[in-house]
Amino acid sequence: MAASRLALPRLMLLAMLVLLVALLGVGVGVDGRSHPHKKPPRAGVGSRHSRVGASVGTVASSPAIPPDDDGAPPPGGIVPSDPATPFRPEPCVFDVRAYGATGESTADDTEAFRAAWRAACAVESAVLLVPSDGTFTISTTTFSGPCKPGLVFQVDGVLMPPDGPDCWPPSDNRRQWLVFSNLDGLTLRGAGTIEGNGEEWWNLPCKPHRGPNGSTLHGPCDSPTLIRFFESCNLVVQGLRVENSPEFHFRFDGCSDVLVDGLFISSPANSPNTDGIHVENTERVGIYNSKISNGDDCISIGTGSYDVDIQNVTCGPGHGISIGSLGVHNSQACVANVTVRDAVIRNSDNGLRIKTWQGGMGSVSGITFDGVTMENVRNCIIIDQYYCQDKRCMNQSTAVHVTDVSYANVRGSYDVRSAPIHFACSDTVPCTNVTMAEVELLPFSGELVDDPYCWSAYGAQQTPTIPPVSCLQDGVPDSLLDNPDLKCR
Ligand SMILES: *[C@@H]1O[C@H](CO)[C@@H](O)[C@H](O)[C@H]1NC(C)=O
Ligand SMILES: *[C@@H]1O[C@H](CO)[C@@H](O)[C@H](O)[C@H]1NC(C)=O
Ligand SMILES: *[C@@H]1O[C@H](CO)[C@@H](O)[C@H](O)[C@H]1NC(C)=O
Ligand SMILES: *[C@@H]1O[C@H](CO)[C@@H](O)[C@H](O)[C@H]1NC(C)=O
Ligand SMILES: *[C@@H]1O[C@H](CO)[C@@H](O)[C@H](O)[C@H]1NC(C)=O
Repeated sequence: MAASRLALPRLMLLAMLVLLVALLGVGVGVDGRSHPHKKPPRAGVGSRHSRVGASVGTVASSPAIPPDDDGAPPPGGIVPSDPATPFRPEPCVFDVRAYGATGESTADDTEAFRAAWRAACAVESAVLLVPSDGTFTISTTTFSGPCKPGLVFQVDGVLMPPDGPDCWPPSDNRRQWLVFSNLDGLTLRGAGTIEGNGEEWWNLPCKPHRGPNGSTLHGPCDSPTLIRFFESCNLVVQGLRVENSPEFHFRFDGCSDVLVDGLFISSPANSPNTDGIHVENTERVGIYNSKISNGDDCISIGTGSYDVDIQNVTCGPGHGISIGSLGVHNSQACVANVTVRDAVIRNSDNGLRIKTWQGGMGSVSGITFDGVTMENVRNCIIIDQYYCQDKRCMNQSTAVHVTDVSYANVRGSYDVRSAPIHFACSDTVPCTNVTMAEVELLPFSGELVDDPYCWSAYGAQQTPTIPPVSCLQDGVPDSLLDNPDLKCR
């Protein structure tokens, strides 16, 4: 073997040594917040090659780093794939450390992330890697496309925003932190944690009852959504732990074909407005195998949401799975074809909720809840067409029509402070085709509340419910036939 063939591995060894020393240095300096991550980085990601260049201070013009395929030294060091073999896209790993990120939590790694994104975006099947052995702090950033297909944003370490409003750069948007926009085919995944550092935001005196002596101060109260996807399609979000968001954890707006799988979302029960996953103006969404505990809606579905499939999600504590609120300020709202299957909701203020403001237009239709287990939940099943935040709402003659809603196999226990079933539908625009089968709800503790609230609702009990609901009326009221205000698309 020629001497030059031996030189490369030796160089590599040297690079690894340098890196090891650097990592040890980092590890010693960290105190306070600790986030242990036991899972090793995935194969091919975070391998030794991805570290090459970590000690280089500037961003190379062509920093593509090849994967560790068959142990052969990388030809030339920066060529993505071996030109001798037939073309097949392989992941090129863009480790943020190679762009100057420190992972030291107190440092600002924003510029490194932006540079790594620009590089990864330009290459097919790229992986932007947040490595497992660091805590990376970045400020508000929009990661926008279009990018080459197959892009993966992989968080194996800890990624977080600055700690609270006082540390938020004054020029940064206070409504959002990580934004992914104009992308087709992005995957956000990893074995790591996105830590929202939300506590100081929750305690702002403008948040409910956080002002002096339990008051709520008036004035702007913007807090950032942790992760927002905007105007994007073919998205996958998988496997991450996301916690302590200042406001919503995830928000999908203007997207289509979204798959959310295996997330673990966690914030305290008393953290205000920390919805787990919010969806609006978004079509074809699957939310699966996730566990969400927080201080507001587990999943909230806003206007313009179609074909949403939710399965095997565990919620609580929190405010349950919510469609709405819809129709605020006399707006038109449309939501159709939402399925919730095999869900568990525990210790929540609501279970399955549909809420609309008076005075809206449009409809909520084709909503199926099938196989939901409740445990100590207030308002297990609720349709509220009189949703109103300041208790001074006037009665109005229009409403968002709620129709074709089915509750099947909803079982478990309720918190006796509220009726477990509550249908408060509009006088002028009643709810229609509400069907119930195999609904059995019993008190978690205390006396039965066998007096469901039921107003202006049409539909049928296919099997007797516990508690019994006797007010569902047959047919459809004439006022709803051919009412143009209720049409959607
Ligand atoms: C809070 O309440 C206490 C006792 O009622 C009162 O003395 C104090 O002035 C109040 N503080 C404010 C900021 O309102
Ligand atoms: C349901 O989701 C949990 C994660 O919350 C997962 O461990 C479990 O395997 C899933 N069950 C099925 C049947 O997929
Ligand atoms: C409802 O949404 C599901 C996806 O969740 C889709 O497969 C189905 O075709 C949709 N049904 C209608 C009637 O659009
Ligand atoms: C609004 O309508 C409800 C139901 O008909 C009625 O109980 C309530 O008194 C009305 N409120 C006002 C302010 O008119
Ligand atoms: C009632 O709603 C169900 C879905 O929950 C739907 O399958 C059925 O066709 C609707 N019935 C009528 C009469 O529209």
